[in-house]
Amino acid sequence: MIIFAHRGASGYAPENTMAAMKKAIALGINAIEFDIHNVEGELYVFHDRRLDNKSSGSGLIEEVSRQYLSSINVEGEPIPTLWEVMNYLSQHDCLVNIELKGMKSLEPFIKIYPRLVTDLHIAPENLLISSFNHGFLAKFRHLFPLSRIAPLFEGIELQANSTAHKLDAYSLHLSLSFINQEIITQAQAEGRKVFVYTVDHEEDIIGLRQMGVDGIFTNFPDRAANILKVR
Ligand code: G3P
Ligand code: MG
Repeated sequence: MIIFAHRGASGYAPENTMAAMKKAIALGINAIEFDIHNVEGELYVFHDRRLDNKSSGSGLIEEVSRQYLSSINVEGEPIPTLWEVMNYLSQHDCLVNIELKGMKSLEPFIKIYPRLVTDLHIAPENLLISSFNHGFLAKFRHLFPLSRIAPLFEGIELQANSTAHKLDAYSLHLSLSFINQEIITQAQAEGRKVFVYTVDHEEDIIGLRQMGVDGIFTNFPDRAANILKVR
């Protein structure tokens, strides 16, 4: 079972910051998920659409300037760019799941993705691009046929497997609250992985393993690794 450090090791360090990425690597975790937004054409690693709750700033992240973003922090940590995070992670053997948040335009990501492969030498199979925006995924996959993409689903999505099929997705990313055996079995029968978010509780981790899921996103990846080892 693959254990993704969710927003970096966000149970231990401010989420989606370099500190959270470094913590995940220090814990020996080799799969990391984080979220990105487009700010004036530069991609930044941050979860919320608003800055208010998780940073010292305020406003909609995609409507502030880069200069403003560089003046605020997340519990004392700067908001990193995608490039800064990827440059660091490229020095470690690591599966990276980049989640595209509500970006107005996919263009900055279309520009940077090939550079992650050519300039930072990250193997395409170590890059998994996910989003709730399935239109973005379809466009991206069309441009980069060798890329790995994954649709995210929030609620009970009866069309999840057919959506994943149409997108030729590598994996389905499903919410813990709505997971069921049928969807897992069908996805795997079609050759897809099933990854579930966000899973921190021991019983849930064990239950998902029994259901045969391929991986989880967790804020405490070391704990999940220990639970899977001892139980
Ligand atoms: O990618 C899995 C998970 O991160 C999706 O939800 O809101 O935590 O980005 P969220
Ligand atoms: Mg996410």
